[in-house]
Amino acid sequence: MQRLDKYLSEAGVASRRELKAIIRAGRVQVNGRTAKAGEEKVDETSDEIRLDGAVVGRRRGVLLMLHKPAGYVTSTDDPRDKTVMELLPPAYRALELKPVGRLDKDTEGLLLFTDDGEMLHRLISPRRHVWKLYYACHAGTASEADAEAFKSGMTLENGEKCLPAQLAPLGPGESLVALREGKYHQVRRMLAARGMPVTYLKRVGFGGLTLGNLPRGQAQEVTEAQVLGPPCDIAQARSHWVLGASIGDV
Ligand code: URA
Repeated sequence: MQRLDKYLSEAGVASRRELKAIIRAGRVQVNGRTAKAGEEKVDETSDEIRLDGAVVGRRRGVLLMLHKPAGYVTSTDDPRDKTVMELLPPAYRALELKPVGRLDKDTEGLLLFTDDGEMLHRLISPRRHVWKLYYACHAGTASEADAEAFKSGMTLENGEKCLPAQLAPLGPGESLVALREGKYHQVRRMLAARGMPVTYLKRVGFGGLTLGNLPRGQAQEVTEAQVLGPPCDIAQARSHWVLGASIGDV
């Protein structure tokens, strides 16, 4: 048994001083009952402790979807830049979450995290070919010839061969792109190779998951079944987009 505030501060949720206010605000539950004071004793092996509804502690199998803003690097630690780890809600900081794949510093959108190494491997394994969907703003206007080039498997400027991908022009200077691999700067390099350098990039879908209306900088738990469900169809996504339906606002 140990004090509730000690347990929460060691879990990395907040300092002992900050926890006083957090507990007083009724944001912490122990086994479903709202905690009243940090001095309460909890059994870390059997009690379920929640902050803002999310379980705090060591769990495996968590999958979290973050709407990554631009300006954060996908890394667990970086000497210069802000990292995506800083955006995780307090209740998840004690879990050893790792990003599932990466988004560039300037790219926004759907980024997954898990504390389960096997799940991470399943989600990024090239053999699984999980489709990822991107919205891109770029120079020029994509044509049918560009879509054909994506479909037939492009070769990048350094000779790297890409798997067949999909490109759906949305209008002048904007397109949807679907890839089932994740080479370095791949969307940017593919569009640049067709003479359409990217000015804005956002991932809006990962397998069966879409970003929906999740606000920038916010995270929510999702399930692996949602990701491995039927992939987001680019033609359908395009008509949703053209109709103004939200698969991720820009
Ligand atoms: N392709 C890119 O160019 N950047 C990303 O962040 C993801 C895919």
